Amino acid sequence: MNSNTSSHPIGLFDSGIGGTSIWKEIQKILPNENTIYLADSQNAPYGLKSKDEIIALSSKNTEYLLNQNCKMIVVACNTATTNAIKELRAKYKVPFIGIEPAIKPAANLSKTATIGILATKGTLNSELFHKTVSTYSETNIIEQIGHGLVQLIEDGKLESEELFHLLEAYLNPMISQNIDYLVLGCSHYPYLIPQIKKIIPKHIKIIDSGEAVAKQTKNILNQQQLLNTQSQKGKVVFYTNSDSKVLKKILKNKYEVLEKKF
Ligand code: DGL
Repeated sequence: MNSNTSSHPIGLFDSGIGGTSIWKEIQKILPNENTIYLADSQNAPYGLKSKDEIIALSSKNTEYLLNQNCKMIVVACNTATTNAIKELRAKYKVPFIGIEPAIKPAANLSKTATIGILATKGTLNSELFHKTVSTYSETNIIEQIGHGLVQLIEDGKLESEELFHLLEAYLNPMISQNIDYLVLGCSHYPYLIPQIKKIIPKHIKIIDSGEAVAKQTKNILNQQQLLNTQSQKGKVVFYTNSDSKVLKKILKNKYEVLEKKF
């Protein structure tokens, strides 16, 4: 890549609006980068799809972003990372940053040697996740699929009773088993933190991967001499292939969202 490439945008994609939690962290530490975010909400949730389907959707999103000259792709989705990042890296030349559940810091910091993880079925069943878990055999890792959560978030029902009851049903068994860390293994779930805090006791810490992913994005851009050196704020573009209402709301109506087919 030549030096002009550094002004090209960073592309991010997710099965929907959740990856904006990652985009926000990237925006915090790399405010001068141009970014393009794709919300593939029409195909959400990815968590119930087969590995082949997730690879096909991730390739489609990547190609759309590469056609817009992205210099790097951030897979802002645990399900797509754990099922497809190996294939994406083999197929396309640009650097890829993925997001995986933060098992490592939680396992290392846990005093009760018991941690909980809430993630999609696709993530918890993936080979990559199993490999990670197998390296922490001394920690009791309580896995819970967040059935229904992504869809409710996509439908704009963050504050609904239905969502709250699901969370209670998923978290209470973890609380009884004495977890002291809760890993949010899906980029949609940081939006649930206010509700989660109403359910879990104060001593249980919540960990997600947003900040770590943003730091890694910066490191790789730096290493590859791809950091955008412009002094003005980066240009931001959001695309969704569904109704833009919920995405706009989650971005507090601060950004333009374009409805596009991709
Ligand atoms: N945000 C995606 C993730 O991090 C949600 C997956 C889904 O669509 O089920 O896993």
